[in-house]
Amino acid sequence: MKRAVYPGSFDPVTFGHLDIIKRASEIFDSLTVAVLDNRAKTPLFSVEERVKILEEATKDLPNVKVDSFSGLLIDYAAANNFHVAVRGLRAITDFEYELQIAQTNKELSGGKLDTIFLTTGLEYSYLSSSSVKEIASFGGDVSKCVPEFVGDLIYKKYNINR
Ligand code: PNS
Repeated sequence: MKRAVYPGSFDPVTFGHLDIIKRASEIFDSLTVAVLDNRAKTPLFSVEERVKILEEATKDLPNVKVDSFSGLLIDYAAANNFHVAVRGLRAITDFEYELQIAQTNKELSGGKLDTIFLTTGLEYSYLSSSSVKEIASFGGDVSKCVPEFVGDLIYKKYNINR
């Protein structure tokens, strides 16, 4: 059985992430979306909220599971027997950073963790969780960026009535 992990912050999940999740779920028999619990960062949504949002957003994809992890991805991957990580590439600007992480993970895992890149659909290439949060914080329209229920949750965090 071909299994893969899609790690990320997902604060919150966007249509760009969901595009990668759907396509990866068609390539692999089982895909685990793993939310990084990074205590060094102050996310808008707690890790529990991000997991719940992802579960709701992927409920129609039966081979997609949602989990969380803290620490190094290679340790989470080894403990859960993942040998492939999936990441999305939006533009050439993502490439250098992603290549560095992928090569570090390959090296640190003793060659056990590979990374597979899916190019983000062109219609989502401009999207990032940070810009979605910024737009929503000023009351802007994020309906083209995130599912409606996610937009509502972001507005609620910023006390915006829309
Ligand atoms: O959605 P993001 O924030 O771009 O995801 C980045 C993520 C979570 C994939 C990456 O930061 C990560 O795997 N962090 C866990 C810590 C780790 O393993 N670092 C070593 C890679 S240099």
